[in-house]
Amino acid sequence: MSKLTESIQWQTLVEHQFNISSMQLRDAFHYDEDRFEKYSIKIGKDLIFDYSKNLMNFDTISHFLALAKSTRLKFAINDMFAGKKINSTENRSVLHVALRDSVSEDLEIDGLNIKNEVDTVKLKMQKLSKDILDGNWLGHTGKQITDLVNIGIGGSDLGPRMVCNSLTDYHKHVKVHFVANVDRRDINKIMLNVNPETTIFVITSKSFSTQETLQNAETAKNWMIRSGVSKENLSKHFIAISNNIKACTEFGIAEDNILKMWDWVGGRFSLWSAAGLSIAIQIGWRNFEKLLKGANQVDTHFQNTPLENNIPFIMAILSIWYRNFLDFPAQAIIPYNQDLGDFSAYLQQLEMESNGKSVSVKNQKLDYQSSSIIFGEPGTNSQHSFFQMLHQGTTTVPVDFIGFAEFDQGDKHNQKLLSNLLAQSRALMIGKTKNEVKLELKEKGLSEKDIENNYLQRTFTGNKPTNTILFKELNPKNLGSLIALYEHKTFVIGSILGINSFDQWGVELGKEMANQTLDELNSKESSVGLDNSTNGLINWIKS
Ligand code: F6P
Repeated sequence: MSKLTESIQWQTLVEHQFNISSMQLRDAFHYDEDRFEKYSIKIGKDLIFDYSKNLMNFDTISHFLALAKSTRLKFAINDMFAGKKINSTENRSVLHVALRDSVSEDLEIDGLNIKNEVDTVKLKMQKLSKDILDGNWLGHTGKQITDLVNIGIGGSDLGPRMVCNSLTDYHKHVKVHFVANVDRRDINKIMLNVNPETTIFVITSKSFSTQETLQNAETAKNWMIRSGVSKENLSKHFIAISNNIKACTEFGIAEDNILKMWDWVGGRFSLWSAAGLSIAIQIGWRNFEKLLKGANQVDTHFQNTPLENNIPFIMAILSIWYRNFLDFPAQAIIPYNQDLGDFSAYLQQLEMESNGKSVSVKNQKLDYQSSSIIFGEPGTNSQHSFFQMLHQGTTTVPVDFIGFAEFDQGDKHNQKLLSNLLAQSRALMIGKTKNEVKLELKEKGLSEKDIENNYLQRTFTGNKPTNTILFKELNPKNLGSLIALYEHKTFVIGSILGINSFDQWGVELGKEMANQTLDELNSKESSVGLDNSTNGLINWIKS
């Protein structure tokens, strides 16, 4: 066993889990009418985090406080904000928090003042977005820009895409599109719908070596040239966001149109950086700054609030508690807002690319579980797809419900949306006992025999844990806060579990093998150089 699972703090949690394993949430609320007040946290007037419907109590929190202390969480938090190179396998700092002004003004990394670095890029972003939105940036035929296409994948796509699609109420007049997949269909549907004279492509790639992005960028460049854009005029239609300036210029991007990404901002944490240029153009610079402000508010909460009242800390320990002590492998993220349709896809990269590891920072194979399996779809749709399993499946899946209290008595849609959100977390907690079902069936006039044959299928164990995160309304500031909550939840999970949440070696093998399968696919002879299955599949494709 590793040090962590042998620690007294971990062993105390194992014993504690056994002691409260028969806990019934129905009873917890019955015996403690103040449970909601005790187990909910507010930030200002805009946000409430209700974690009272969880299979835990104050002892759970105090045992996790002890585990956090023994794993030096508070020091780890300070190290991140102080720019320490906590991304140990790549020897890098982790400073996405600097992008929203949450670090000290005099912080320097490798002799560079971080605030100056960030402010310089922000100024360039502000000018670019203003020029494009005000019509000062003209295409090669002198027309104003109507469309912007972000070409990127992973963190160079998911965050910006999610934010743009979540804030439709704040969209400016330039239409922003996203291309990520190397599947030609992705870029084709864009090229069929935009005018090359009035379109800008933003190639977002920290490494500027990601195969899909370079392929899409090449196709876009050729399409623009075929559409009559001369090589010297390409700079009117291409911008690059990258840490690899040399590769950008070799591609043909003018120096002036290159915005810098730093190695101390991880891809899945980069929407706040120049990678968020598409956001700044989609919603305007002032709203982009509100997004940053919302994240900054959560940074302050995370840094300064005692852990027992610290929302990202509570979110994280519940995740570890369910994954490692109650053996619930997954977690569902259910936003009750159709515009947040991309939110769980974004969180999948944030949480699973960060903590989907099996070796600790001390180079020990983990003998405990790391990331939960994250999935989700907006409510109320998901109630009509996988909620059957959440209510009556054999695997308990903790749920994060996310909602917006913009309650308008006159809006029947909104009333139904909110009432469903509240009803689902209540139903998952309370369930329906067999006696309640039997009584119901009796009142419906079923015979004793029919009742005996039917009651079990209609019984709900309940006791399914959920969090509810409610904001006053969905706006740039609150979305920034919501995202930052999950970023810091991810950080705390990695810190307590002794994982480096900021590298992603697991993505390299697939990339290497894609080059091998490409060579085999392109060769005239039948494929023999790979495993029998892959050879067989390649040869079937060739036949
Ligand atoms: O999935 C691996 C990964 O490196 C992500 O971490 C990153 O967000 C994505 O690929 C894109 O990388 P880049 O921004 O360098 O193109």
